[in-house]
Amino acid sequence: MFRFRPRHPLSTPPAEATGAAAAEAPLVEVSDLTVEFTGSRKASAVNGVSFSLPKGRVLGLLGESGSGKSVTLRALMRLLPPRRSRIGGRILVDGQDVLALDEKGLAHYRGGIASMIFQEPILAFDPVYTVGRQIAEAVRAHDAVDWATARARAIEMLEHVQIPQAARRYESYPHEISGGMRQRAMIALALSCRPKLLLADEPTTALDATVQIQILLLLRELQKEFGMSVIFVTHDIGVAVEVSDRLAVMYGGRIVEEGDLAAVVRNPRHPYTAGLLASTVTPGLRGRRLTTIPGAPPDLSDLPQGCAFAPRCAFASADCAAAVPPVRAFGQAGRLACFHPLESAVPGALGPGPIAVPTA
Ligand SMILES: Nc1ncnc2c1ncn2[C@@H]1O[C@H](COP(=O)(O)OP(=O)(O)OP(=O)(O)O)[C@@H](O)[C@H]1O
Ligand SMILES: [Mg+2]
Repeated sequence: MFRFRPRHPLSTPPAEATGAAAAEAPLVEVSDLTVEFTGSRKASAVNGVSFSLPKGRVLGLLGESGSGKSVTLRALMRLLPPRRSRIGGRILVDGQDVLALDEKGLAHYRGGIASMIFQEPILAFDPVYTVGRQIAEAVRAHDAVDWATARARAIEMLEHVQIPQAARRYESYPHEISGGMRQRAMIALALSCRPKLLLADEPTTALDATVQIQILLLLRELQKEFGMSVIFVTHDIGVAVEVSDRLAVMYGGRIVEEGDLAAVVRNPRHPYTAGLLASTVTPGLRGRRLTTIPGAPPDLSDLPQGCAFAPRCAFASADCAAAVPPVRAFGQAGRLACFHPLESAVPGALGPGPIAVPTA
């Protein structure tokens, strides 16, 4: 079991909670995003997601499997299959209307403004070219530099992500390096054009615990150094706490709770958030059985008429089954979609100390 110490002491609210964030210009503004898959596997994967992310901040996007986290990120990168999906709403990144970009605009946007790293780095690389060459190619796709300069920049990026003997590794093929090194190389690839927004989709899940921590620390350093905004997808609350300034909790393709990290973790208002937190072991509760939320996530091809969490919610009443609770402002700079928000911290939610993350 490994412990992560939150970047902000949970008792000290970061700028958002004090209202200072109000002055920060958002880099990302997503309004009422919807994604529907229309092929043989019909699904309403994203159902009216809205959030904004200031420059240089990290949003943790948390939720169980199938809640729409990856689809949301793919929509932000315009990586969804155009013939089998319908996207609605608006995505603004650095002033660009992402859903309206043409091929040329997209080529500049991907890598130049926004980059994505995935859970499985082997998929990001073409097995027939060396790792270094692929990073150099990404550099050349955005900057009119010769190969020698692109090579030098690629090696510099490999050094930046702390790959030993970077010049030698430049010549390695993806299968010749370890999983942790491949993940570092993918981060180098994603950052090679200095994006303003990094979308990280469970980038440490496939790694063993020690390497996971190293990669999280590296990402945190690079985020600060490059001043990037990051959306970090995870289903692991301990990881989310480690990397995030703000936390958004997804369920059934919607954000059901969003707010400053400390506020959400200290005092979850949505029963689903409280359930996720209660299923995380805290130091004081070590040895106690992990609670899991009874029931299964909703079927996105057949969502209920009301709140998608109602069938699993101990607080649900008739109104929850009748209508979807609208997202409304809650507390200091927080948002919540629930008819029966919890009033105070739930026993079993996180205490003041570092959060212990179960490794199994
Ligand atoms: N190309 C696709 N065609 C049809 N349905 C899809 C497609 N991609 C995703 N979905 C569906 O959209 C829903 C949301 O998927 P998504 O991958 O966003 O979940 P997730 O929150 O990232 O889960 P996980 O934690 O398992 O990665 C799922 O029900 C999934 O089956
Ligand atoms: Mg996913």
